[in-house]
Amino acid sequence: MPSPAAAPMPALALSGVTVRFGTFTANDRIDFSVGSGEVHALLGENGAGKTTLMRVVAGLLKPQDGTIAINGTPVTLNSPLDAAALGIGMVHQHFMLVPPLSVAQNAALGLPRVGRFFPDMRRVRADLAEISERYGLEVDPDAIVGDLTVAGQQRVEIVKALYRGARIFVLDEPTAVLAPKEVEGLFRVLRMLAEAGTAMVFISHKLNEVMEISNRVSVLRQGKLVATRATAETSGAELARLMIGSDFELPHVSDTVPQDAPVRLEARSLAYRDERGVPRLDGLDLSVRRGEIVGIAGVDGNGQQELAEVLTGLRQPQSGTLMIDGTDVTGSDPARRIGLGLAHVPEDRQRTGIVDLSIAENAVLETIDRPPASRRGILSHSAIRAFAETLIADYDVRCTGPRQPITTLSGGNQQKVILGRALSRDPGVIVAVQPTRGLDVGATAFVHRQLLEQRRRGAAIVLVSTELDEVLALSDRVLVIYAGRIVGELPRNQIALDRLSALMTGQAAA
Ligand SMILES: Nc1ncnc2c1ncn2[C@@H]1O[C@H](COP(=O)(O)OP(=O)(O)OP(=O)(O)O)[C@@H](O)[C@H]1O
Ligand SMILES: [Mg+2]
Repeated sequence: MPSPAAAPMPALALSGVTVRFGTFTANDRIDFSVGSGEVHALLGENGAGKTTLMRVVAGLLKPQDGTIAINGTPVTLNSPLDAAALGIGMVHQHFMLVPPLSVAQNAALGLPRVGRFFPDMRRVRADLAEISERYGLEVDPDAIVGDLTVAGQQRVEIVKALYRGARIFVLDEPTAVLAPKEVEGLFRVLRMLAEAGTAMVFISHKLNEVMEISNRVSVLRQGKLVATRATAETSGAELARLMIGSDFELPHVSDTVPQDAPVRLEARSLAYRDERGVPRLDGLDLSVRRGEIVGIAGVDGNGQQELAEVLTGLRQPQSGTLMIDGTDVTGSDPARRIGLGLAHVPEDRQRTGIVDLSIAENAVLETIDRPPASRRGILSHSAIRAFAETLIADYDVRCTGPRQPITTLSGGNQQKVILGRALSRDPGVIVAVQPTRGLDVGATAFVHRQLLEQRRRGAAIVLVSTELDEVLALSDRVLVIYAGRIVGELPRNQIALDRLSALMTGQAAA
């Protein structure tokens, strides 16, 4: 997109903004601005302070120091309502929608009630439909939010902010939950918003996205702003260096898995129909050997989620069989499978990964009934704390200690806790779904090394990811899932990208 210089009077300007949590400084005298029609990307490692800074902008946090100006006028933001009234809208890293309510009800929540008790819902619905139409967002005002896909919920957040008249948009890792096609759709919307003069802050860990969509980019490192650049005058390599101080490369699998290695996970003819009777898994076969990583590539929504849930016992298939290390686990619950050495790194970490307790409690969530957390039915708090401390050290979780509530960790650090919980048990079978979603470059490399280490140890790993780079770098074999079936298998030394994408889009026979 065109690259206007920062306007003399930015739509939003922060200067000297400082946020402390106790003695910890999350934002240290930050100067940051965004002009109207500009996309200003904000980069930084997990825990660098990006979300914190944007919570200040959204009126969710009061800084200890510094000033905020909108169109040159200093403002005080005491609440999200203040921010909304000044035209600031935020699409959060973890959505703030109420799932059982409709889109229109969500949009109307917290609106000032002028004249009458409830906002006029007919008007709200009509306005939402109009906005959705204008930006090609495909949001149905009457849909129940909980029924929508993540991409759909994100579009609701955008429509909701537009409906409230946002002129300054903060998008916190909006692409982390999107498939490549959906990212294109989002970028189309952002470009339309930029043309209409909206100022945008765009947070992402994906450097290619930042290079594509932003006009300027700022890098945070441990709470400090280390650089602001015009995007046209920097490179992905420079940005990565600014973020972490060194370059990272994806590791590569070198040795091959012996053909006679025992099969640790075996699924036969799995069939699963959802509540509406729509087939999601349609006779799927999968087997993974000891020391093997099998990547499942596919366009989001082709059964990946259902496959992971059927493998881990969160859903029961209508037919098919499942064996772990030769034991038939068809029909058994998640706890029994965990007992047999299965580990799950779930996709929706907010919903199925964590509970609103301390890091330590989350670390033993799945294994509370066995050592080290408890022995003969008696909980050992010191053992739990020691376990959590090791996990924090091994997985480089940035926190103040095992007692910190997990929900106050940065998104990426929450994921490290979940990964640590799954991998530190030395599981025999690992089902990892989007294991690096939301992780920065360094943490991503760390997770990849961990998965390779588990492979070396002899674990059988199913890696479900919409990041093709990740699947290609780590997998011994790549299976392509399409419409609930495995439509092709490519050994790692014979992966042709055109063949892969033809399979992924259903344009090639198996
Ligand atoms: N309410 C809180 N109490 C204590 N510490 C907090 C709180 N909120 C954030 N922090 C800490 O501030 C730091 C910055 O967190 P923030 O969420 O801003 O990081 P981030 O850059 O958005 O990271 P990510 O890429 O992982 O989302 C982290 O170390 C986090 O643990
Ligand atoms: Mg964040």
